[in-house]
Parts: sequence; C-alpha cells; structure tokens
Amino acid sequence: MAKKKILFTGGSGLLALNWALLPADAYDVVLGLHKKNISVNNLVTMIIDMETITGFSAVLENIKPDIVIHCAGLANVEACEADPSMAYHVNVELSVNVAGACKMHGIHFVYISTDHLFSGKKALVSEDEIPSPVNEYGKTKLEAEKKILEISDRFLSIRTNFYGWGPAYRQSFSDMIITNIRNKKPVSLFEDFYYTPILIEELGYTVMELVSKHANGIFNVTGNERISKSVFGNRVADRFGLDKSLIRISKFSERKDLVKRPADLSLSNKKVCTFLNREVGNIDANIEKLFLQEKTGFSNIIQNV
Ligand SMILES: NC(=O)c1ccc[n+]([C@@H]2O[C@H](COP(=O)([O-])OP(=O)(O)OC[C@H]3O[C@@H](n4cnc5c(N)ncnc54)[C@H](OP(=O)(O)O)[C@@H]3O)[C@@H](O)[C@H]2O)c1
Repeated sequence: MAKKKILFTGGSGLLALNWALLPADAYDVVLGLHKKNISVNNLVTMIIDMETITGFSAVLENIKPDIVIHCAGLANVEACEADPSMAYHVNVELSVNVAGACKMHGIHFVYISTDHLFSGKKALVSEDEIPSPVNEYGKTKLEAEKKILEISDRFLSIRTNFYGWGPAYRQSFSDMIITNIRNKKPVSLFEDFYYTPILIEELGYTVMELVSKHANGIFNVTGNERISKSVFGNRVADRFGLDKSLIRISKFSERKDLVKRPADLSLSNKKVCTFLNREVGNIDANIEKLFLQEKTGFSNIIQNV
C-alpha cells in the first residue's frame, strides 16, 4: 500500500518536531516552515505560504499531502495579549486559509486546538461544555476552531496540552524542569494550577488513529489524570532521578503579574477513550516514554535542530 503523506504546518515548533520524528511506517512527512528555516535529520522541510488560500493551495499542489496537521500558531499567552491583532492573524486567519485550501483539494485537515477555551472554574470538562475563554490566546484559538468546523464538518479539532523535547529555541515545560534541576537551579512550580498533560508521542499516535478511523469534530486528546504543575514536576523528577529539593512550590493565585489564565485547564478524555476503545494518556506511562526518548537518542535529534 502506498504511504500517505502528512504536511505539518508550524514545522519548527515543539509539537510538529516531536510528532514528525515518531517512527511511522505508514507515513511520509513534510515539515512546513515559516521564519525558522531549520533542517532536521532526514525529514523534508519547506518554507510554506499560509497568508492566502491561493498561496496555500499552491503549497498543496506542490506537496500533494493526504493529511494536513495544522500546528502553526501563536501559542504564547503573553504575546497574544500584547498583540491581539497578530494573535488573530496567526491563530484565526492563517488557520482559515489552510482549512479553506484543504477543503478545496479534498485533503483531511487536523486543527490543533487548546485546553485554554474555558474559564477554569470546572474540572475535567468534556467536548460539549460551552467555551468561555478568558484571554486573547483562548479567544483566537476558539474562533479558529469554530470557523474551521464551519468550513467542513469532516475536519478534526484536537483540544490538548502536551510536552516533549524542545530545540534550543523552544523549551517545553518538562525541558524546563529537567534542564534547570540538572544545572542545580531551583524550579518554581504551581501547586494550584491544574491540567491534563499528554506526551506528544502518545498524542501523535492517537490523532493518527482517529484520522485512520475517519473521526471528525472535536476530541479532547489529553492525559487521563488531572494533576497540578507541581505534582507533574515531582513525577518527572522521580523518574529522571533529579534532586527534588530544588523544586519550590508556589501559588498561581499569588501571581497577579501574569496574563489572566484559567487555573484549571483539565479536560476529560472519555470521548476519545470510548471512540478508540482503549485507555489514552496514562501520565506515568507517558513520563516513562519521555525517559526512554532520552535514553534512545530521540531527544538529541530535536535538541540538535
Ligand atoms: N504548547 C502547548 O502545550 C499547547 C497546548 C495546547 C495547544 N497548543 C497549540 O498547538 C500548536 C503548536 O504549539 P507549539 O507549542 O508546537 O508551538 P510553538 O513551538 O510555539 O511553534 C509555533 C509554530 O508556528 C509557527 N508560526 C508562528 N507564527 C507564524 C506565522 N505568522 N506564519 C506561519 N507560521 C507561524 C512557528 O514558526 P516560526 O517560528 O518560524 O515563526 C512555529 O513553527 C499551536 O497551535 C498551539 O496553540 C499548544
């Protein structure tokens, strides 16, 4: 059977790099780039135009992907708040261009949404909950999700929160914990900020399974346990044998200097577990995989980008 081709937008980012490098016999991948013109192992990389539908149509005609996974975005909450029109352009307008061109060419489109769509007053929210974002990042990500599902009800929107290995220019949350403690620096972790993180390895394989089963609409693809940032950090430190005395517990509720965020980002992953008839996002198993990714040199490939 011919291999399918996946085009990742946002190819230099944390998500696309960790996902595109996963061993996958069934797929060829292309990393679509913007400003950072990186080269990665044996992957095909290409600067792509998402500024207009016509521009992205030309990209599709050239690359001929079967699936587009839209990872490009302005994911920094502070940057979105500082420049809402830039956040709207990157998160909404570019997503609409990419989705519109995919619809025209009959290509399967996966939008990477977020867990930042709610007020944070309720834990483990399902896909049916009415969103009420509290900042520009959440508002623009939600607007994009609505618009792409209006373009086609066959598209997939994945609400998530992930970690993996970052290149030098983009540290992940787990990188921040591991690197600082290894360098004997303290790390400050919130005990009152909750989420349901998933390792990109499991996120990537799970989304590809959803695509292969023709899933559409909104799916939460997250870890199966609601934990605080400090509990997550402690579990990472345990598995990596890090000095936990360097973990300083702090309170998100005391950080009035930060842009407003929901203090509980946790999402329920019941729908995806039921659809795939299996468990998704076991936190300890994911941390074990993160550990193995370092042992087997996977992390090195990304750190050397
Ligand atoms: N990080 C998380 O835990 C998290 C959680 C939930 C959802 N998400 C969503 O997941 C997606 C990927 O996140 P990430 O953490 O991998 O992001 P990231 O590491 O910040 O990477 C963002 C990517 O978007 C590209 N990009 C930014 N502005 C662009 C523009 N104007 N035109 C074209 N490309 C542009 C960047 O390329 P250049 O650097 O070359 O500009 C980069 O490749 C985002 O949509 C984010 O909202 C992230």
